[in-house]
Amino acid sequence: MTKERAAQIVGNLGYIIDIDDEIKGLDLVKEIEKLKKEKNAVILAHFYQRPEVQNIADFIGDSLKLSQEAAKTKADMIVFAGVHFMAETAKILSPDKKVLIPDLNAGCSLADSITPEGLKELKEKYPDHMIVSYVNTSAEIKAMTDLICTSSNALRLIQTLPPEQKIIFTPDRNLGYYVKSLLDKSDEEFVIWNGACHVHNGFNKDAFEYMKEKYPTAKLIAHPESPKEILLLADFIGSTSALLKYVTESEDKEFIVATEEGITYQMKKKNPDKIFHVLGSATCACGFCEFMKTITLEKLYLTLKYEVPEIILDKKLIEKAYLPIKRMLSISEKLGY
Ligand code: 13P
Ligand code: SF4
Repeated sequence: MTKERAAQIVGNLGYIIDIDDEIKGLDLVKEIEKLKKEKNAVILAHFYQRPEVQNIADFIGDSLKLSQEAAKTKADMIVFAGVHFMAETAKILSPDKKVLIPDLNAGCSLADSITPEGLKELKEKYPDHMIVSYVNTSAEIKAMTDLICTSSNALRLIQTLPPEQKIIFTPDRNLGYYVKSLLDKSDEEFVIWNGACHVHNGFNKDAFEYMKEKYPTAKLIAHPESPKEILLLADFIGSTSALLKYVTESEDKEFIVATEEGITYQMKKKNPDKIFHVLGSATCACGFCEFMKTITLEKLYLTLKYEVPEIILDKKLIEKAYLPIKRMLSISEKLGY
């Protein structure tokens, strides 16, 4: 197979329909392990990845953990089994390494819900506000940002800022609402960009009530990207890793999970005696991120073998986008997590 053909296959959204003879009959897990060693590569996978992809990863985690791993890895090559902004973040943190993503179509509706032009306009309206952006943003947005945060550290990072500091929070309105509800700030002091993730924003009260009737003792746990009506009903709110920790340490046995279904793979693995229902799964397919699921073992293998597609970013953009991420990582380290 040529490098061009491999690039064509890994660029396909969804499953590979046209599997070339080269892949047929291969023990992909064995081949990927072999290539990883040969190329001194590391595979980072988000919790929303398919189980077989999570199983072959060197590190599985939430956005914060994965960016910390990307910053400290000694590998020559990073293969990011996640979405585009995550691989870009890895490239910003490790500019001298080759960073690959097994499908360039693995985007993120939340990251796409903000544009540099829109943010520039908002900043012009609120020139004294500091821009705090969620990590689910493009490198261009990061370069315009003062402080990056993730769902696991957003509140704690903002609490380290002087209390009078005014903030523009981008791009997730639901996470923004959640953080603001725990701070003493007015709408003018804490301006929220009106963006959302199509997966989390699809969760609603009706789906919850339907499921609660079926599973009356189940506790509702929610990712803060979920809408306000879900966050107000939740027994626990947290990032993917916080949700995993919560269910593992909880005395409760049954949970309704308001986040992407991929996380339940680790939840079930760590808690075989507990039951997990993804919110909406009985009434709709809301808990499914098609971008995360574009990554397959076949694409992972081709990416490692042919070293495509690669994340390429302009050097100046990397330098600018690095500053707010570095700020996040150093505050997180000081706070001890
Ligand atoms: P976490 O940082 O909690 O893993 O969330 C990432 C994400 O994309 C949620 O949709
Ligand atoms: Fe983006 Fe939503 Fe998918 Fe997370 S679940 S990667 S926020 S589209």
